[in-house]
Order: sequence, then C-alpha cells, then structure tokens
Amino acid sequence: MTRPIDSLLVAADEALRTLAGAIHAGRPTPGKGAGEPDAAEERRHAAALMRVNHAGEVCAQALYSGQALVARDPNIRRALQEAGAEERDHLAWCRQRLDELGSRTSVLDPIWYAGSFALGVATGLGGDRWSLGFLAETEAQVEQHLEGHLGRLPAQDGRSRAILTQMREDENRHGETGRALGGAELPRPVKGVMKLFSKVMTRTAYYV
Ligand SMILES: [Fe+2]
Ligand SMILES: [Fe+2]
Repeated sequence: MTRPIDSLLVAADEALRTLAGAIHAGRPTPGKGAGEPDAAEERRHAAALMRVNHAGEVCAQALYSGQALVARDPNIRRALQEAGAEERDHLAWCRQRLDELGSRTSVLDPIWYAGSFALGVATGLGGDRWSLGFLAETEAQVEQHLEGHLGRLPAQDGRSRAILTQMREDENRHGETGRALGGAELPRPVKGVMKLFSKVMTRTAYYV
C-alpha cells in the first residue's frame, strides 16, 4: 500500500528531475549518423522546433505524473507509468538533440510543468474515464503537431526527423491505450481549450 506522502514525494522527485534534465532514456536515441543541417539559420530553426518538442515532453511528464498521483484503478496507474517511461525517452532525446544543435531548453519549462501537472490532477480527480479520455486527446493532438513539425524541419536534419518519427509512433500507441482502457470522448469545447493551451506553449517555446 502506497501512502499519500510517498506518492507526493515521487511526484516532487519527478518534477525536479524533469526540470533539471536528470532523466535518462531507456532506448537509444533514434537517427544515429543521420543527416545534419549545415547552415547556421537551419540549425537555429531546427533547435527552436526541438525546444518546442522538449517543452511538450515536459508537459507530458507533468500530465502523466499528475494523473498517476490520483488514478484509482491499479491497471490504469500501471498503464500511465508505462507510457510515462516512453515519454521519458522522448524528453531525454529532445534534450540531447538540443545540446547537439548547440541550443537550450525553454526558460518557461517550470511554468508548463506546473500547468500540466495541475491539469493532470484535475482530470484524474474527474475519474479514470475522463482522465484517459483527456490523455487520448492529448496524444492525438501531439501526434498531429509532430506531423506538422516533420514537415517544417530542415530537409537535411535526418537526426531530428528520426527522433520525431519514433515519438509520433509512440504517441499513437499511447492514444490507443487510453481509448482501449475506456477513455471518454471529450466535449468539443474542452478539446478547443486544450488546443489553445498547446498553441500558446508551442508559439512561445519556439523563441524562449
Ligand atoms: Fe512524448
Ligand atoms: Fe505520449
């Protein structure tokens, strides 16, 4: 039996590690030896896109952590933790790619973390059906977003492309898991608010 204080400490530990970059991937980073952009302008653009993706993965960590904190069904908690492990890979890959491109993470990451954690707890408290529905919708939106970034990356940047392609595959699976475990279809206005949140995040993290 896990005591509430233990769960809270786990959540706090996850937050600190995510924001400090002390997260290690379980799988090797995709795209080893794939192409690199040469021009400074292209590298800057690729880095800005990867900063957005890194911020998105910070949000995913927070969301999964918040939901796992309040999930009732042990099967659902386990599924959240499994998907969370793959999200840790994404986070570490994006951070590594930012390093390779000579860039940095978003200074607003703690804010995205706090907001997403609160959302994870709030949807989790609404019950597992809504929590999973929210998760499935998040993953669907992220998948769509990654599709867009794959089109915007510099043509030569095979490394970033390989990373995003693997991420898209994983997100698709996370979404399916959420639906298979009984996630409810969210009302349209809720989906709209989620799109707005991600629009603000993605536009901002591109620059800062
Ligand atoms: Fe992810
Ligand atoms: Fe995901």
